[in-house]
Amino acid sequence: MTIKIEPSGQACGAEVTGVDLSKPLNDDQIAEIRTAWLKHHVLSFPDQPMTDDDLERFTHYFGGFGHDPFFDPIEGREHIAAIRRDADETSPLFAENWHSDWSFQAHPPAGTCLRSITIPPVGGDTLFSNQHAALDAMTSEMRTKLEGLTAIHSAKMAYAPDGAYGDGDDGRSMAIRPDESARETQTHPLIRKHPESGKLGLFSCMGYIIGFEGMAQVDALPLLQELYAWQGREVFTYRHKWQENMLLMWDNRSVLHCATGGYEGHDRLLHRTTIAAYQDS
Ligand code: SIN
Repeated sequence: MTIKIEPSGQACGAEVTGVDLSKPLNDDQIAEIRTAWLKHHVLSFPDQPMTDDDLERFTHYFGGFGHDPFFDPIEGREHIAAIRRDADETSPLFAENWHSDWSFQAHPPAGTCLRSITIPPVGGDTLFSNQHAALDAMTSEMRTKLEGLTAIHSAKMAYAPDGAYGDGDDGRSMAIRPDESARETQTHPLIRKHPESGKLGLFSCMGYIIGFEGMAQVDALPLLQELYAWQGREVFTYRHKWQENMLLMWDNRSVLHCATGGYEGHDRLLHRTTIAAYQDS
């Protein structure tokens, strides 16, 4: 089998065929997928009837497991979380905002893998936004405002007990476990080099970024809002349409992602792993 990589024609994303992920991959296949991942930032693998063992093996090829706080793993697995919404669920959609997974960690995950199990007949697309493109297209005036900024990241708005998925978040089928540790902060440069490709990009966004070092909140919040609107412009995005038995892997260092709804009355279930940081970046 020869691996075939078909770019999405949008700002990032490519479809990969000619590989069977239910079987171990050889070194050449792994290298080819890694090269495509760094180039296209989001890879989808359609028609892959995988098991959770296959998902774990695939994750190991690209760096092993990241640490997933605030979620209980699925039964019998330490590193797989269920991204789940039941047909009758009325709680706000999970992750319907731009973000880079766990950017509030000291060594945030390089990537995320998501394996589809139950996919609704309509809606539930996942959006991605290419943050190299967002930086490259910026006016020099806007870029000057951002150069040298150190962003302060925290999970508090989502996962603290008073956060969006906190103690008041009733009726959610996902096993989210809010915790006081969500208030901890961590800093990363806002504009930073991708640890593998060396290409500059914007890292993370408002939500997990709660401010900037040395900047008053009264100045930081409007800047974060302006930046968020820029980062999610359609011209930088790829809209991923799911099918059952599909694996998606994305690069948290170069894209933001955002869940979408539109599938009320239908179940949606995917299994997720995070890929550990590359050489502790
Ligand atoms: C996520 O942010 O991990 C979930 C994305 C989705 O449900 O489409």
